[in-house]
Amino acid sequence: MAKFVPVDLFDLVIFGGAGDLALRKLLPALYHRDRDNQLPEGSRIISIGRSDMAHDDFLKLVNDSLRKHLDASEYTKALWTSFSDRLQYVKADALDSGKWQALKAVLKGHEDRTRVFYLALTPSLFGPVAKGLKKTGLINKDVRIVLEKPVGTDFESARKINDQVGACFEENSIFRIDHYLGKETVQNLLALRFANSLFEPLWNRSNIDHVQITVAEEIGVGGRIEFYDQVGTLRDMVQNHLMQLLCLVAMEPPTSQSHEAVRDEKMKVLRALKPISVDEVKTHTVRGQYQAGAINGEAVPGYLEELGNDDSLTETFVALKLQIDNWRWSNVPFYLRTGKRLKMKYSEIVIQFQRVPHSIFPELNEATGPNRLSIRLQPDEGVKLSLMSKEPGPGGFDLRPVSLDLSFEQTFGGGYPDAYERLLMEVIRGNPALFMRRDEVEFAWRWIDDIIAGWLATNQKVEGYVAGTWGPTAASLLVDRDERHWFPN
Ligand code: BG6
Repeated sequence: MAKFVPVDLFDLVIFGGAGDLALRKLLPALYHRDRDNQLPEGSRIISIGRSDMAHDDFLKLVNDSLRKHLDASEYTKALWTSFSDRLQYVKADALDSGKWQALKAVLKGHEDRTRVFYLALTPSLFGPVAKGLKKTGLINKDVRIVLEKPVGTDFESARKINDQVGACFEENSIFRIDHYLGKETVQNLLALRFANSLFEPLWNRSNIDHVQITVAEEIGVGGRIEFYDQVGTLRDMVQNHLMQLLCLVAMEPPTSQSHEAVRDEKMKVLRALKPISVDEVKTHTVRGQYQAGAINGEAVPGYLEELGNDDSLTETFVALKLQIDNWRWSNVPFYLRTGKRLKMKYSEIVIQFQRVPHSIFPELNEATGPNRLSIRLQPDEGVKLSLMSKEPGPGGFDLRPVSLDLSFEQTFGGGYPDAYERLLMEVIRGNPALFMRRDEVEFAWRWIDDIIAGWLATNQKVEGYVAGTWGPTAASLLVDRDERHWFPN
């Protein structure tokens, strides 16, 4: 395990502290860090909610939810006692800072601690809460504010939120979360590319045929359907998670690992993204929506049945073909796809190299020929390099694809902390490297806004796909047309 860097004494205030994200992700993450003795003695977690709730009722809510979200072996009475001693519940309306006396009273006398305000709220509340914190004098010297994704719903709304929050907090105190940046394998991309001399000389248009990024989920939209129907997959997944992955794959080597150096390089990729014009939107993008089908042998309903309304055009799947207009990537297509209710939970980045320039082997055909580097994000995190090899034995020269396969679990033992555990600790430490800077979020929205405008202008169809497949046929055509295919397919 990596060396632990201690954190200072802190108060973490979670707005939306009794909501879904807090119960499902944030509190279990903090429980784990407490179990590993990484939360300083006396540090507190203060959950803010709108409803009246007695302290014991709040503890029961958290306890029930931890039992549901932790493995049975991880929960012990002693650990719960230690963790629950840190918890407090405070009633406050995020929009009514004039009545935050209870919150002020809890924080009073603790001004010398690191103070973190985590906004697990709808983005339209980010600005008002930031303003409320400033007005009530709760911003201390060592403060951070955490904004859950999505920051806005388009470029304009993101800019407005960033202006509002930026009027109250310094940019380096604003932590915009994209939990993919906290995933072990996503961080490992930096190590793979820049701690090895092998790949970087090949990482360009002269050697790479194309790049694919797949983020496939088995789950449907479930209980979030009302929220999701207003948002769709392009805004929920592509604008943030997939574009961050794209940036890390495509960026130039940063001069150091410092947060500004890495963010500057990511920004250059976003600036170089070729906008998808109204004329290209039909040939470069696919929108899909899942229909009834089966996942792991179990029947699952379609999106419209779950919604109880048969005229929604919200997409639950997106595939894109994009170009990065710079020297390194000129004419190298990047194919991105993500969707819900797909065949399996599977996220992978595939770098497909070019075929050998001249083959001395007649049997080296298109399907087996090119080398591929696959970086698996989940499940079974690892890296695989596909190579061609001679089948052993006399009497012929038959080629077969084989792979060098590195499984992180087998090599390092697995059991990595969840992304939120790492990200919360980095917030408390005050290290913004794994968070999005204002300009990254806004540029990503600008590029996404063009696609949405194209969809509207052309009435782009939402293609149905059967749950439990790899998405609509149109997504296969997007790559087939270029005589390529998806991995996996
Ligand atoms: C969230 C999206 O950001 O990421 C969800 O809002 C999605 O819709 C989730 O299910 C996927 O995260 P992970 O870590 O399970 O791949």
